[in-house]
Amino acid sequence: MKLPSGAELVLWLHVMAASVWIGGQILLGAIAPIVARQGDVMKLVARRFAAVAWPAFAILVITGLVNMHNAGLDWSALPRTAVGRTLEVKLGLVLLSGAAAAFHTRLAGAGPGTAALRGLLGGLSLLAAVLAALFGVVIAQS
Ligand code: HEM
Repeated sequence: MKLPSGAELVLWLHVMAASVWIGGQILLGAIAPIVARQGDVMKLVARRFAAVAWPAFAILVITGLVNMHNAGLDWSALPRTAVGRTLEVKLGLVLLSGAAAAFHTRLAGAGPGTAALRGLLGGLSLLAAVLAALFGVVIAQS
């Protein structure tokens, strides 16, 4: 039996963290219409999710940097190769996903008037993360 290498363990951790960030957002979006009817429960659920999701996001960034090193991708080479440019697009999506989620969280206590914007930001964060995962697979297969 072949045991996982260090690089494989880091990549595994990266994918596990991605599943928390993406899967959690999908679950939250799916239950939101029902839970929102239960007073402040949605706020409590979202707060608990944030306590899990942000550490997962931090793990994504840290393991992503190690993945880059393990895949022989360095910052200076990024604009010069096709894989590097794919990684640049992916990093833009990661930034977008994190920023949209942070803004979404900040609006949490802003009242019902911001519900549509909050939903839009949540959807944007999820879409950007799903596309970042797709580009991650493209990089890993290159
Ligand atoms: C929302 C954040 C992120 C998500 C959802 C995500 C998701 C993924 C996924 C699903 C893979 C494919 C793994 C595979 O097919 O084996 C991957 C690979 C990769 N990710 Fe990320 N990632 C994120 C953030 C980052 C960040 C911030 C970096 C760099 C700083 C990064 C760098 C990489 C690299 C270099 C690979 C390829 C590894 C290899 O060639 O083996 N990722 N990512």
